[in-house]
Amino acid sequence: MLLFKRRYHFAAAHRLHSPHLSDAENKAVFLQCNNANGHGHNYEFELYLEGEINPQTQMLMDLVELDKLVETHLLDEVDHVFLDKDTILFKGVITTAENIAFVFFQTLDAVLPSGVDLAAVRVYESRNNAAIYQRPEAKLPPFIYQS
Ligand code: NI
Repeated sequence: MLLFKRRYHFAAAHRLHSPHLSDAENKAVFLQCNNANGHGHNYEFELYLEGEINPQTQMLMDLVELDKLVETHLLDEVDHVFLDKDTILFKGVITTAENIAFVFFQTLDAVLPSGVDLAAVRVYESRNNAAIYQRPEAKLPPFIYQS
């Protein structure tokens, strides 16, 4: 079994606001991230793929094909938009880094070719925080949790 990592980036606006909380509670929980007109991030995310090496190409997956899938299903949806307002992916979803990692995982996992599994998605919202969603049964090496 082999792990392969690839990194992507996009820029987007969002607002953290829960419909289950009052305006005052939202402000208290999300602080400046609750700003009514949103705020922006330069997001980065990493995909960790696992599978067997392709005997013909000696790669886990064709990178052009992977980039095309990521572009079509994720980047075209989320780059330079207001995540909460402009995307179908995040309709009714609070756009925390945790939820972005989960939604990206679900979306990409559904379109990857057979024989290639998504082991994990890590979304960096800033230099200081990131969220990882991993396939529950994935056995990832400890270094994946560093930086
Ligand atoms: Ni934010």
